[in-house]
Amino acid sequence: MTGRLIAFEGGEAVGKSTQARLLAEHLGAQLTFEPGATELGARIRSLVLDATGLALSARAEALMMAADRAQHVAQVIRPALDAGMHVVTDRFIGSSLAYQGFGRSLGVDEVLSLSNFATGGLRSDLVVLLEVSDVVARSRQEAPGDRIEAEAAEFHRRVFEGYRTLAEQNPDQWVVIDGNRPIDMVAAAVYTAVQERLGV
Ligand code: TMP
Repeated sequence: MTGRLIAFEGGEAVGKSTQARLLAEHLGAQLTFEPGATELGARIRSLVLDATGLALSARAEALMMAADRAQHVAQVIRPALDAGMHVVTDRFIGSSLAYQGFGRSLGVDEVLSLSNFATGGLRSDLVVLLEVSDVVARSRQEAPGDRIEAEAAEFHRRVFEGYRTLAEQNPDQWVVIDGNRPIDMVAAAVYTAVQERLGV
């Protein structure tokens, strides 16, 4: 039997990485992340995120995220699922929809077809969207931030609203968790949601 794929999504500094790690330990799942989990991905990540002053158009950024995802699925996610392992990923298709689709205003439908091409149609069984207030996010954020973190507040507002819209439009696939609480309470809410939705 193939494993289940669970993706964590959210804006900057919402506690995704911590919660993804805790869930992976809880399930004995493979833990991974985007962008940058493969050798190619690590190079793409530094090209896209390092604040080097490199000019990068919105479409080029979307294509690079998609290339990272294609390699990630081929080299990490698909083999683990096929071996029967559950996979927990810190960011997946939802990040491209929110950041490139909404944040960069490229449109969700086009960005989704790009991601579908990249993954060969693989989608996650569950998307856990962590939401925190601005105050909590700012207190967790490490300065000075990468090229995307450094975008204007208006960009991050579009990303935040975009995530909300995606969760509202896909209630069967997405679950929204309040990340403002202490780590262990958030983790417990995540385990309950995963158990209820996927039975694992
Ligand atoms: P991270 O710091 O949480 O690893 O995320 C890296 C940054 O890349 C974060 O600002 C979100 C952004 N990103 C996109 O814009 N599109 C994507 O498809 C992915 C996976 C990440």
